[in-house]
Amino acid sequence: MPDDAMKGNPAPCLSLEGLSKSFGGLRAVSEVNLGVYPGDRKGVIGPNGAGKTTLFNLITGVLLPTSGQVRLFGEDITTWPTHRRTLLGMARTFQITALFPKLTVLENVLLAVQGLRQMKFVMWRLLSSYRDVYDKARYLLERVGYWDRRDVKIRHLSHGERRQIEIVLALASDPKLLLLDEPVAGLSTGESHEMATFLRSLDPDLAILMIEHDMDVAFAVVDTIAVLHYGEIVEEGPTKQIRASARIQEIYLGVG
Ligand SMILES: Nc1ncnc2c1ncn2[C@@H]1O[C@H](COP(=O)(O)OP(=O)(O)O)[C@@H](O)[C@H]1O
Ligand SMILES: [Mg+2]
Repeated sequence: MPDDAMKGNPAPCLSLEGLSKSFGGLRAVSEVNLGVYPGDRKGVIGPNGAGKTTLFNLITGVLLPTSGQVRLFGEDITTWPTHRRTLLGMARTFQITALFPKLTVLENVLLAVQGLRQMKFVMWRLLSSYRDVYDKARYLLERVGYWDRRDVKIRHLSHGERRQIEIVLALASDPKLLLLDEPVAGLSTGESHEMATFLRSLDPDLAILMIEHDMDVAFAVVDTIAVLHYGEIVEEGPTKQIRASARIQEIYLGVG
């Protein structure tokens, strides 16, 4: 039995074990060990070129590591394709928008719920009833305070609001772990604050791992932070500790 189970601690949703990725001679991600537990709000921050996007791609199955393992709820998923990871409870957002701009908020969520049902249940149930799909879409939108705006077309939402709806789509698969890659990139300061509030309002049982360049945004959303520098995690701890760390300040100022 693993140590954690013997101590009565919950099993990690996600664990990265000695994860590395090289591009030719460059080690973009180097021996990364990281655990995300149920309900954790964790951030991975680092300056440009630190390896954040590469790490995200290894976790989501876009890239295969050179060495090391990715475990999801105890399963070794290192070489699994993205859709299998989704079925096991991992969800992600995409930087290229997955929304249909001419359809309404509700229609977009209905399509996401319907699409996932087909993917999950095609073996034994061809289509779930429209009522089930509608109820699920309504639940998702009510949960995040968007039900009143369900009939607004996506193209009439602000950029920041669209980003929030993309996260709602990711939640349609009932994930236990949500992965976010720079969720406020390209948003205004006001929209970034709204996104931070939105993320803070999500189900506390949902674990979130957020990859973020902007320290202040990470500080506003997560409770613990791992700092990536030249592909390695150089410090990990509570937000307060990272905020006070002279080493981290130096890394961000480019003199570390
Ligand atoms: N497909 C690739 N081929 C070669 N080098 C890459 C590739 N992707 C990323 N890199 C390099 O790996 C390092 C980490 O990049 P990246 O993961 O994009 O960092 P970040 O997202 O933190 O800015 C950089 O030096 C980058 O140039
Ligand atoms: Mg990046």
